[in-house]
Amino acid sequence: MNNVHLNKILILDFGSQYTQLIARRVREIGVYCELYRYDINSDFIKKFNPKGVILSGGPDTVTFDNSARAPNIIFDLNIPILGICYGMQTMAIQLGGHATSANKHEYGFAKVRSCNYSPLLNGINDGGNDLLDVWMSHGIEVKRLPDGFKLIASTDNCNIAGFADINKHYYGLQFHPEVTHTKQGKHILERFVNDICQCKKNWTTDNIITKLVKDLKNQIGSANVLLGLSGGVDSSVVAVLLQQAVGKQLTCVFVDNGLLRLNEGNKVMQNFAKNMNVKVIRVNAQEKFYNALSNEDKPEAKRKIIGHTFIEVFEEEAKKLNNIQFLAQGTIYPDVIESAGTKSNKTKVIKSHHNVGGLPDSLQLTLVEPIKELFKDEVRKIGTILGIPTHMLHCHPFPGPGLSIRILGQVKQEYADILRQADTIFIDELYKNDLYNTVNQAFAVFLPIKSVGVTGDTRRYEYVIALRAVETIDFMTARWARLPYNFLDLVSNRIINEISRISRVVYDISSKPPATIEWE
Ligand code: XMP
Repeated sequence: MNNVHLNKILILDFGSQYTQLIARRVREIGVYCELYRYDINSDFIKKFNPKGVILSGGPDTVTFDNSARAPNIIFDLNIPILGICYGMQTMAIQLGGHATSANKHEYGFAKVRSCNYSPLLNGINDGGNDLLDVWMSHGIEVKRLPDGFKLIASTDNCNIAGFADINKHYYGLQFHPEVTHTKQGKHILERFVNDICQCKKNWTTDNIITKLVKDLKNQIGSANVLLGLSGGVDSSVVAVLLQQAVGKQLTCVFVDNGLLRLNEGNKVMQNFAKNMNVKVIRVNAQEKFYNALSNEDKPEAKRKIIGHTFIEVFEEEAKKLNNIQFLAQGTIYPDVIESAGTKSNKTKVIKSHHNVGGLPDSLQLTLVEPIKELFKDEVRKIGTILGIPTHMLHCHPFPGPGLSIRILGQVKQEYADILRQADTIFIDELYKNDLYNTVNQAFAVFLPIKSVGVTGDTRRYEYVIALRAVETIDFMTARWARLPYNFLDLVSNRIINEISRISRVVYDISSKPPATIEWE
C-alpha cells in the first residue's frame, strides 16, 4: 500500500478566509497536507518533515511593525516554498525585498501576464493567449525583489504579481490560485505540489480507506469501542470503517436527545441496525437533555451543555457494556480547524463545535477520531466506496446540538414539537419540488416571539417560523438560496394552515458572512 502521508505539504495560515481552500485543493490534487498557524514552533515543523510549504494570505498589513512573519526555519529546510498574497509579501520582506502600499488596490478579477519561463507558470494559459484570469485581493504589493529572485507575472496595476527564485524553488503569487475564480489555479497548485515539491499522488480514496482501517485495527486491538452514531454522514462513515476494522467489537449508541427531526431516530435505527448490520443501541435521553438545558438561553452555553450531556450518556452506556476502552467520534478536519484554534489567531473562533475539545478526565475512554484529517467531500467519497446509500451521504448537514440552536433562547419541548412539524413541511416540499439538491443546507428556525395573524374570522396570536436555505461549498461562506417565490408561498401556506401555533413565516435573506448559517 502507498503511504498516504509520505509526501506532506505544510500550509501555514496567516488568517485568510481562503486558507482552508488551499488545503482542499492540495488534497484534491492527491497530496496530503496539514494546516497550522503561521507561528507554529520550529521543532514541530522539522518533525512534520514537509516536502514543501505554502504560506497563506492574511488580513495583516505586512508593512506594520509586529505584523505576522513566517518562521525562519522554513528557509533553512531546503524545500520549496510558495507564498500566496500576504504569504508572498512576508516572504519578500524576510528575504531582503521590499513591499509597500499598492498604487492601486486590486480586489476581484484581474488579468495576469505570465513571463512564461518559471516551472510554476510556464505554458499555463486560459486558452489562446498568455493572460490568466485570476482573483486578487490586496492593498500592498512587493516593490523590490529579494536577491536571486526574478519576476514571473504582472498585471496592469501590479508589476510584481509573481516572483521566483528557481534555484531555491521559492515562489510567490500575489493572486489566489486556491479560489475557483482563478481558472488555472488548481493547475498552478498542481505544478507546485507535484512538479516542484515532487509529491506523488498517494492521497487517493482507496489508499485512505486501507490506511484508516489498518490504523483502527492497530489502535483498538482486541478492546471494545463505542461510537456515538447520529446518522449523519460523518458518524455513519466512522461506523462502517469501524465495522470493517473491528466488526463485533463495535457498539454504536444512538442518543435520542429530544432535539432531533421528525422520525429521525426510527430512520437511523432502520438504516444501520436493520440494513447495515451494525450493532446500535438506542438511548432515549430526552428528559435528561431538556432538564440540563432548562435554565439556559445562550447559544454557546447550550452547545456546551449538550456536549457534556452526550458524554454523560455515553459514559453511562459504556459502564453497562464490557471492556469498552475507546469512544469513537465523527470529528472532521474543519471542526478541528474551526474549534481548536489551529487556525491563525488572526481569525477568531466563531462557534465551538460540541464534539471537539477532548473528554473529561472522569471518562476513562480513549478517543478514536479516524476521519479527523478529512474534509467533508473526502468523507463523502469514502462513504460512497464503503457502500453507504447516496441519500444518506448527500443529506444536508444537521448540527450536533440539533434543534436546540434552531430554537432561539430557551429550549422547550413544546417549541421543538412545533419546529419539527414546520421543518418537515419545508424539507418534504424541497424534495417534492426537486429543490433539495439545489441548496446545500435548509431548515426551519423557531422564533419564540408572537405575532398577530388572521385565519378565517379568527385572530391568531402565535409564534414565528423562519426558513433558511443556503448555497455553499465549504460552509465557511454561504449565499442565501434564491428559492422560487411560488415555492416559498406554498411552504408558508402549508406551515400556517397546518400548524395552529404558527401565525407567520419569514425567509432569511442573510449571507455568511456577515450572518452565520445557523441562527445561534
Ligand atoms: P454556522 O452557523 O457556523 O454553520 O455558519 C456552519 C455549519 O456548521 C454547522 N454547525 C454545527 N455543527 N455543531 C455541529 O456539529 C455545532 O455546534 C454547529 N454549529 C453550526 C451548521 O449546521 C452549518 O452546516
